[in-house]
Amino acid sequence: MIEVESGECARCGGSGFVIVGERDAARARPCACRSVPKDRPAGVGEFLLAARIPRRYHDCEFENFDAIPPHQMSLQGARTTAERFAEEYPLSDRGLMLIGPPGVGKTHLAVAILRRLAIQKGVPCQFCDVQDLLRQLQATFDRQSGMSELDLLQPVLQTEIVLLDDLGGRQFSPWLEETLSHIVTTRYNEKRSTIVTTNYMDESAGGRGPTLKDRIGPRVHSRLLEMCHVVRVEAQDFRQTIKRADHHRLPDPGERAGRTP
Ligand SMILES: Nc1ncnc2c1ncn2[C@@H]1O[C@H](COP(=O)(O)OP(=O)(O)OP(=O)(O)O)[C@@H](O)[C@H]1O
Ligand SMILES: [Mg+2]
Repeated sequence: MIEVESGECARCGGSGFVIVGERDAARARPCACRSVPKDRPAGVGEFLLAARIPRRYHDCEFENFDAIPPHQMSLQGARTTAERFAEEYPLSDRGLMLIGPPGVGKTHLAVAILRRLAIQKGVPCQFCDVQDLLRQLQATFDRQSGMSELDLLQPVLQTEIVLLDDLGGRQFSPWLEETLSHIVTTRYNEKRSTIVTTNYMDESAGGRGPTLKDRIGPRVHSRLLEMCHVVRVEAQDFRQTIKRADHHRLPDPGERAGRTP
């Protein structure tokens, strides 16, 4: 490590990244001072544990995110944008907001970003299931939890990259707005990148039913739009597609009857 008196790396000024290439080809590469991570995840196992990735999403990568018909353009576009974000990070502190109906792969893509950033760039990342966090915070008020509010919020406020998964899943309330506002405003003020997934469309989508703004309140909504580049994912529900494919793979009833002793 190249160090000056302050202890900061002279090559990257302490940011942990150096810029290679120029203009459109500019990319941020991890500085040599990051190459021997101390408290940072290095391998897949450490990443999954440190970032608290739920087991269902342990294998999610860009490489196994399929752009399948009839929505291959939207899926391909979303994958390219997500991959570019990971490639270019931290050239911009603007995060991503993946918006779309259930089962279209938003969480898959968001986890793929965390995986790429953690493993290839040594960036500390944290998965946060928003509904889960809110339930746990609520439990601290009801004294049903051994954890304090600070224990729960600290990783979400301070980790370099946080995924707020399934934002808007809970009915709006002043407490919800205050809690989300604290998280989003702290990250905004510290210029920390945030990745968001949500089922709720913003107003410009013009759909019926509650919008994202209705679910999270105008203050949080406005900050997030400034903090994140919006990516709409339009596709069929992959969970149903898998179910149908499994169903087609089942042996026919005669075959099944034949196998029964
Ligand atoms: N394009 C895809 N290629 C491969 N697997 C996919 C794709 N889209 C979704 N999946 C898989 O389908 C399952 C559901 O995807 P995911 O949970 O990412 O959907 P989601 O958009 O986050 O849904 P929700 O809004 O309900 O949270 C996951 O197991 C995911 O890995
Ligand atoms: Mg999801």
